Amino acid sequence: MNEPSTVDEAQLQAAARMITAARYCTALVGAGISKESGIPTFRGEGGLWTRQGEPPMNGYQIFLQDPRAWWLERLAQVRTPPEFARAIDAAQPNPGHLALAELERRGLLRHLITQNVDNLHVLAGSDNLTEIHGNRRKLRCIACGQRGPMRDFADDQVPPHCEHCGGIVKTDTVMFGEPIPPDFLRASVHHTERSDLMLVIGTSATVYPAADFPLQVLRGGGSIIEINTTETPFTPYAAISLLGPAGVILPRIIAAL
Ligand code: OAD
Repeated sequence: MNEPSTVDEAQLQAAARMITAARYCTALVGAGISKESGIPTFRGEGGLWTRQGEPPMNGYQIFLQDPRAWWLERLAQVRTPPEFARAIDAAQPNPGHLALAELERRGLLRHLITQNVDNLHVLAGSDNLTEIHGNRRKLRCIACGQRGPMRDFADDQVPPHCEHCGGIVKTDTVMFGEPIPPDFLRASVHHTERSDLMLVIGTSATVYPAADFPLQVLRGGGSIIEINTTETPFTPYAAISLLGPAGVILPRIIAAL
């Protein structure tokens, strides 16, 4: 069930005008957009960590200490996946994801940086995409950065090893304490630097470096449009703040173009 939106038509039309007039419009997306696909957010009301507490901040270091133990624990969860994994496995793109793919098709959205690992932007048809925190459906070699679907790495070794360089393979999802993979960071910075408008959608804007991208756009003289069900630290700096669910607001923006 969608939450109510307080956005009026004039705000939507103003947002549509800004998007149409932008030279290089990008989007930074967070967990909020996938809530309407049944995936819980992390923070805030009903958030995974609001209910369960934050996971340890040194997840990557734990992995590096004993990759085999990490993989054995992960493989043991295959039959009874945790809530987040179950929700992602069952999820489909919602009208918010589809609207972003449509903005790209119309040439109005140059690049989308998502913090989500749920693969829903890919399923929705977004191509110009950086999944800055990785993709839960992929694995990645920690030595050479080779990345691909699980089947490409599936072998009988635990932990799996990279066919290209023999390095240890982990989930592509960026763990706490793990540096953002350099290619993701480069792409994010590249597109942020070019943005004169950034849509900031469904993110609490608390996790860096992603939370810095809208600030970079503002510092460079650009603007941000925020879409969120609540106010965030970005709200005071947004040229337009659209308060409501992304799955409702984004299709309304498309209709207003
Ligand atoms: P958060 O859970 O921190 O924030 C979700 C945001 O979505 C909040 O600001 C909500 O108000 C908003 N929201 C909720 N429902 C919404 C809806 N239907 N439409 C629009 N907005 C809605 O999620 P993120 O900001 O994405 O990292 O968290 C950033 C990172 O923190 C995640 O990528 C994750 C975690 O560390 C990794 O997994 C590596």
